[in-house]
Amino acid sequence: MAAKRSGYSKIDFAKLTESLDNIKELEGITDSNAISASDIENLANIKDRVKDFQILMMKYECALSEVRTKLDVLNKELSLINNRNPFEAIKMRIKTPMSIYKKLNDKGLDFTLENINENLSDIAGIRVICSFIDDIYMLADCLANQDDITVLQQKDYIAAPKNSGYRSLHLILQVPIFLTQNKEYMKVEVQFRTIAMDFWASLEHKMKYKKNIENQEVISDDLKFSADLINQLDLRMQQIREKIDASEDEQ
Ligand code: GTP
Ligand code: MG
Repeated sequence: MAAKRSGYSKIDFAKLTESLDNIKELEGITDSNAISASDIENLANIKDRVKDFQILMMKYECALSEVRTKLDVLNKELSLINNRNPFEAIKMRIKTPMSIYKKLNDKGLDFTLENINENLSDIAGIRVICSFIDDIYMLADCLANQDDITVLQQKDYIAAPKNSGYRSLHLILQVPIFLTQNKEYMKVEVQFRTIAMDFWASLEHKMKYKKNIENQEVISDDLKFSADLINQLDLRMQQIREKIDASEDEQ
């Protein structure tokens, strides 16, 4: 047992170091003092459960693969039927340990596997980037209607955009993964957006995480205005596509 523990500690140390790097890179933190000694101490306290943590992350990765495969199957079928791909790209990610730690900490919760499972629904995240808004709803419906999938939550920020101008359709899905001994249900967050919405969200995200931005209010207003323009463009492109589709049918 003792030998095993020290093995885990080594992995844990490597992960901790990696996590500290990740958070600086991913969340724009340049000041290393932003991570306090007590944060590091709290993370170090999970060292005996690193293997369990890795197993949990592996399960989330499997859940991501399951949803990815479902989307790929839909893509193959729908592209034959409709003569276009329902999505252009897919991005997937598992939340980094430090990011998980920070989110639990913000909610006033300890870094435990139980708290991760019960309180976070975006450990496994997939972003599906479509050309057209109607394809977003069609894909979401197709996934939601599959009998091994449960939709735990739906947030339609396309129908009701955020104040920032942010638009996307968010689903929290519960999907089964089949392990050697049992079947487990895992949560996966799926964000559907158009190419233009994705372009917008990347730029807006950049502003949000940059410190000391000059004229932030002006930029925020500009972004909100651009989000509305993007929405008009998305709707217009869809109308043009419908016209093209209709004339193809008459041939
Ligand atoms: P989180 O704590 O961020 O997960 O918020 P939430 O649980 O209330 O979920 P919500 O559906 O509001 O947002 C989840 C994710 O959507 C975020 O992590 C971002 O990836 C994305 N998102 C939400 N709002 C915005 C926004 O205003 N701008 C950008 N760029 N992304 C956003
Ligand atoms: Mg969330």
